[in-house]
Amino acid sequence: MTVLVTGGAGFIGSNFVFHMLRKYPNYRVICVDSLTYAGNLSTLKSIMDHPNFVFYRTNICDRAGIYQIFEAEKPDIVVNFAAESHVDRSIENPEIFLQTNILGTQVMMDACRKYGITRYHQVSTDEVYGDLPLDRPDLFFTEETPIHTSSPYSASKAAADLLVLSYYRTFGLPVTVSRCSNNYGPYHFPEKLIPLMIANALNDKPLPVYGEGLNVRDWLYVEDHCKAIDLIIHSGKVGEVYNIGGHNEMKNIDIVKLICKALGKPETLITYVADRKGHDMRYAIDPTKIHNELGWLPETKFVDGIQKTIQWYLENREWWETIISGEYQNYYERMYGEKRESI
Ligand code: NAD
Ligand code: TYD
Repeated sequence: MTVLVTGGAGFIGSNFVFHMLRKYPNYRVICVDSLTYAGNLSTLKSIMDHPNFVFYRTNICDRAGIYQIFEAEKPDIVVNFAAESHVDRSIENPEIFLQTNILGTQVMMDACRKYGITRYHQVSTDEVYGDLPLDRPDLFFTEETPIHTSSPYSASKAAADLLVLSYYRTFGLPVTVSRCSNNYGPYHFPEKLIPLMIANALNDKPLPVYGEGLNVRDWLYVEDHCKAIDLIIHSGKVGEVYNIGGHNEMKNIDIVKLICKALGKPETLITYVADRKGHDMRYAIDPTKIHNELGWLPETKFVDGIQKTIQWYLENREWWETIISGEYQNYYERMYGEKRESI
C-alpha cells in the first residue's frame, strides 16, 4: 500500500507520517510539501533515510508536478493535509488561502481521478461550522450542522469540503472528509495559541490573549487525530463526513494560566490585546458518528497531553527557537505590533 500525504512537513501531517510508518511497516509513505513558512524539513529528519519514506518538495497547486509524482509513485490512498492554516494570516491576506486550500485541493483530486486511487481523504476543520454561543453548552457541531464560516481560512476550507463531496457525487471519486477540533502536541508551529504561549513564557515574553480570553476551543491531542484519520481511510464509508473531537472544551485564558503554572512563570506575563476580527466564540464537536461507526475514542486526557506537549517544547528548544528567529519574527512584529497599537 502506498499512502501519499500532502503537508507532511507541517504539524499534524508530520505526526501522521510518523504514525503511519510506525504502525504499518509494509506501507510506503510519500510526503508532498512545498515547505511554506509553516513546513519544516527538520521535523522529518529522523525519517528522511527511512526505506519506506519519500519526500517531494512540490506545491499542490503545481498540476504538472503533482501528476509526475502520481505517475512515479502510484499512490493507493491520498491524505490531503496541505493548507494555509492560520486564521490570523487569512485575515491579513486571504488570497493564498484560496489558492492552496481550494485550488490545490482541486489539483489533488484531479490527479486522483486521472491516475486512480482507492481513497482520497480531505483533512478539514470544525471551523467550517462557524461558532456556538457561550451560553448554550448543550449545543455541539454534528455532521448535519450547516456550514456557516467566519474567517477567510474557514471559508476556504468549507469551499474545499464542498468541492471534495462534489467529486464524489459527480465523478464517483472515493472520498472521505474529516472535520476535527483544535489539535495540540509536538511540532505545533509557534504562531498558534498553545505553542506560542509556551515559547513566550519560556522566554519571559508577554502572553498576548485576544479580547477577554473567554473564547472556548475543544482540544484534541494530535496523535488521537492521526488515529482517527487512520481509521477513516481504512474503514470509513466513502462519501461521508466524520467529525473528530474529544469533548475537551477549555477557555483560552484557562489554558494560558495552566501553561504559566506548569512552567513556574508569573501570570503577570499575560497581556490582553485587541480581539481577532470576527473571532469565533466556541467550538464543540459531537463525535458520536465516528465513535459508533468506527469505534474511535480519544485516548489522551488533556492533563496528560498538555504535560507531554510542554515537556516536548522544553526538550526541543532548538526546533522552535530556529523558527522564531526566522521569517516568523517579521510576522510576529507585524501582527502583535499592530494589535498593541489597536487596543
Ligand atoms: P500547518 O500549517 O502546521 O502545516 C501545513 C503544511 O502544509 C506545511 O508543512 C506547509 O508547508 C504545507 N503547505 C502549505 N501550502 C502548501 C502547498 N500549496 N503545497 C504543498 N504544501 C503546502 O497545518 P496543520 O495545523 O498541520 O494543519 C494540517 C491540516 O489540518 C490543515 O488542512 C488544517 O486545515 C487541518 N486542521 C488543523 C487543525 C489544527 O488544530 N491545527 C484542526 C483541524 C484541522
Ligand atoms: P489558534 O491557535 O490560532 O487556533 P484557532 O483560531 O484556529 O482556533 O487560536 C486558538 C484560540 O486562541 C483562538 O480563540 C484565538 C486565541 N489566541 C489568543 O488569544 N492569542 C494568540 O496569540 C493566539 C495565536 C490565539
